[in-house]
Amino acid sequence: MSFSLSKDWEKIQTDQPFNTFPGQWKYKWGIHPINAQMMYNALVMHKPICIVETGTFEGHGVYVMAKALSDAHTQCTIHTIDFDGDPLTKEDDASWKELRDIRNSNLQRIQNLFPLITIHFHDGDSREVLPNLIQQGLKWDFFFQDSMHFLEGIVKEWEIMKEAANTNAVVVFDDISLSENLKHPDAPIFCNHFITSDFENQWCYRSTDTGHRQFWAQKK
Ligand SMILES: C[S@@+](CC[C@H](N)C(=O)[O-])C[C@H]1O[C@@H](n2cnc3c(N)ncnc32)[C@H](O)[C@@H]1O
Repeated sequence: MSFSLSKDWEKIQTDQPFNTFPGQWKYKWGIHPINAQMMYNALVMHKPICIVETGTFEGHGVYVMAKALSDAHTQCTIHTIDFDGDPLTKEDDASWKELRDIRNSNLQRIQNLFPLITIHFHDGDSREVLPNLIQQGLKWDFFFQDSMHFLEGIVKEWEIMKEAANTNAVVVFDDISLSENLKHPDAPIFCNHFITSDFENQWCYRSTDTGHRQFWAQKK
């Protein structure tokens, strides 16, 4: 089985929330449970070998992806990046430290649960970590973009990442779609930038306002 965004988009739609594991979840900024189940559905078909996530947070996304690949009996490496300092939030240093402890413990539990999956946490700004990984030869099959949700940040990550995409690679931009978005006003601007600069060339796309909203694309 393989995953085709254009053919399988309807198949991955769901109204069932993903059942996350009983980790220590302090905040509620993680992936939306409906979007998580959609991603799970796609991943068991797609079976990526190399996944990159920007914005680890407490590890919700890592759990969804690791469970999907483990259930699909696929050996996969997940590179996940965070730097404890979302510029759009007002958390103080103590909160970020607590978040770091929660994340470390969750990532360790997830790694123990899914030994087939190799999880690498990279501590740093994605705009510095990603070029290093790519310089070391990283090529990706699935990219979950969930760190910065403002135009300059998303464009920066995407410009770094798109050159290292394997054929059929899937990217999911979280919290953004083609629709007007009061929380993230740059969202439709980025999606339209993507469509005009990448769509004609090599990528097909889908946009959804379900859950936290997502913009998906697949390399043709
Ligand atoms: C919405 S949360 C990620 C949620 C996570 N993907 C999940 O599914 O639970 C956003 C995270 O991105 C991180 N972040 C924001 N900008 C970043 C950057 N430039 N580099 C690395 N991490 C960043 C923040 O520290 C925050 O933890």
